[in-house]
Amino acid sequence: MDIIILGIESSCDDTSASIIRNGYVVSNNVANQDIHKKYGGVVPELASRAHQQNIIPVVDIAIREAGITPEDISAIATTSGPGLMGALLVGNSFTKGFALARNIPIIDVNHLHAHILSVFLQKEDENKPMPPFPYLCLLVSGGHTQILIVKSHLESEIIGQTIDDAAGEAFDKCAKVIGLPYPGGPLIDKFSSEGNPKAFQFNKPQIPDLNYSFSGLKTSFLYFLRDQVKENPGFIDNNTSDICASIQSTIIDILLEKLVIASHKTGIKHIAIAGGVSANSGLRNAIKETGIKEKWQVYIPEFKYSTDNAAMIGITGYYKFLNKDFSGLNSAPFARNKV
Ligand code: KG4
Ligand code: ZN
Repeated sequence: MDIIILGIESSCDDTSASIIRNGYVVSNNVANQDIHKKYGGVVPELASRAHQQNIIPVVDIAIREAGITPEDISAIATTSGPGLMGALLVGNSFTKGFALARNIPIIDVNHLHAHILSVFLQKEDENKPMPPFPYLCLLVSGGHTQILIVKSHLESEIIGQTIDDAAGEAFDKCAKVIGLPYPGGPLIDKFSSEGNPKAFQFNKPQIPDLNYSFSGLKTSFLYFLRDQVKENPGFIDNNTSDICASIQSTIIDILLEKLVIASHKTGIKHIAIAGGVSANSGLRNAIKETGIKEKWQVYIPEFKYSTDNAAMIGITGYYKFLNKDFSGLNSAPFARNKV
C-alpha cells in the first residue's frame, strides 16, 4: 500500500503544504508572506495571522495538485519547532484537527532535521544522486549555522555551530545596513552577480574548533561603511554590487573554511548543504569548486527546497513513519531547540 504523507510547515513566514508518496514529492505548495517586507523583518503576530488565512487553501491546493483525496493520506507531519510560537501553533492546531477528523497519526518534525533531509527530495521520475551515510551537512539558515555528521535519515550529530549570529542573519543584517529590504540575503546574492568580490576586504573571525561567529563581521561591515560614507555620502549607492559581492564572498569563505577542516578531521567526503542560505548562488558555486579541489561528492538541494517548504517536512515525516515515530494530540510546539 502507498504511504502518503501530508507535510505542513508554518514555523516562520512561509505557509506550506506538500504531499509525499512513498518518499517522492508529488506536490509542494508554498504561500510567502510579503507583508513583512515593509517592516524590515518578520513580525510574529502578522505571520500568525497570515498562516491562519493561508493554511486551508494551501493544504487544499497541495492535495488537489497531488490528484488524491484526504482519505488517501496515511499520516500528517508538521513542524513542531524551532520557530515562532504563534506561527507554529497555526500549523500544529490544523494538524491536530486534520488527524482527529481522519483518524490518522501525527508526526512531529524538527525544522532543522527537515532542512538536512532536503537533499533527498525528488519526484518519482527523477534519479538524483543521494548522499550515502555518513555525510557532512552544512546547515545554513536564518536562525542556525551548523556542521553535522548525518548518520542516517533519523540521526545526526552537530560537530560545529555558530556561537552568535547565523549566516542568514549575517546576510540579512548586512543588507539592512546598506538599505536593502528584508529578507536581504537573496538581494545581496542578486547584486553580487555584477560585483567584484575582491573590491573590499573584511576581517574573518578566528574561532576555535569547527564553530562559527558572524557578529564581528557584521560590526566591521557597519564601521567600514560608516567611515566610507563620511568621506563620500554616495559610497553605498555607487558601489552596491561590489559591497554585496565582497561581503557575500567573505561569508562564503568563512563557511567553507570550517567545512574543509570538518571533512579533513572526519575523513568524510560526501558533503551536502541545506537551509535558506544554500539557495545562495555564490555558495552553490563555491562548494562545487571546493568539491573539485577536495575530491568531494557535493549534494545541493534543488533551489525551491533550500528555503522553507513543506516537502522537507513531508519526507522527514515519511522516514519517521517507517520508524513508527508518532506523536499524539497532546504534543506541543517549541520555539527553541532543546540543548
Ligand atoms: O531556511 P530559511 O528559509 O528559514 C529559516 O529556517 O531560517 O532561511 C532563511 C534565510 C534568510 O536569512 C534569508 O536571507 C536567507 O535564508 N537566504 C539567502 C538566500 N535565500 C535565502 N541568503 C543568501 N542568498 C540567498 N539567495
Ligand atoms: Zn528554515
